[in-house]
Amino acid sequence: MTSASQEKSVNVWDPLVRSGHWAMVAAFIVAYLSGEEESGGASQLHVWSGYAIGAIVAARVLWGFVAAGHARFGDFAFGPIAGILYLGELVRGRARRYIGHSPAGAVMVFALLLSLAGTVGTGLMANSGGDKQAAGNAGGGMVAQAVAEENEHGGSKKGGEGAESAIGDLHGVLANITLGLIILHVLGVGLASVAHRENLVLSMITGRKRPGAQS
Ligand code: HEM
Repeated sequence: MTSASQEKSVNVWDPLVRSGHWAMVAAFIVAYLSGEEESGGASQLHVWSGYAIGAIVAARVLWGFVAAGHARFGDFAFGPIAGILYLGELVRGRARRYIGHSPAGAVMVFALLLSLAGTVGTGLMANSGGDKQAAGNAGGGMVAQAVAEENEHGGSKKGGEGAESAIGDLHGVLANITLGLIILHVLGVGLASVAHRENLVLSMITGRKRPGAQS
């Protein structure tokens, strides 16, 4: 049975986009919170939640090229300038409503995917290159880790160790950049929801929005 509100709405986000989104949220929370390790390198939980994020990002990127509709990258191929201009309009309450991703939303989607891919990539490198300790300290323990390593090596690192540690440090920096982007992403979703008087979070759950390009 379809309700009246469902009849008046249109399908926007397919099941892969929605399940991928919420699985990514769960995996990121687990990976970030399990990033702090005291000894013995990254925990299994951290490593496997990182693999999960990598698999979801890879699937989403592939889907962006083959999917139809609003999930397709071509549907929201906006650049940073369009994104910034849109943000300005949004703040002034004059932004056009998009059924798919808005220009600002689109730029954030690409930034998040890139930042997540970079975090996972450096985590894989750190974990396989013998810098397991640094990989396990991505979630905010980076500074303490760097200090501990400085002490351990008497303030001077040999070439290989320094390079491995640098990858681990970069992994931590990227994890924190991703967290910053996520905070901006959630603020942006809230702002756009208020501006266009629609619940975008609910749309990412049900996949549906009210029709019409303009609010
Ligand atoms: C780990 C945290 C998060 C990550 C990595 C993330 C990532 C993403 C990505 C990649 C998309 C694009 C969807 C697609 O086209 O496949 C997206 C969209 C979206 N996300 Fe998130 N997200 C996160 C957290 C959240 C949270 C906590 C909320 C809710 C408060 C949220 C609400 C939304 C909404 C509503 C959209 C659709 C935006 C639109 O209508 O254009 N996200 N997110």
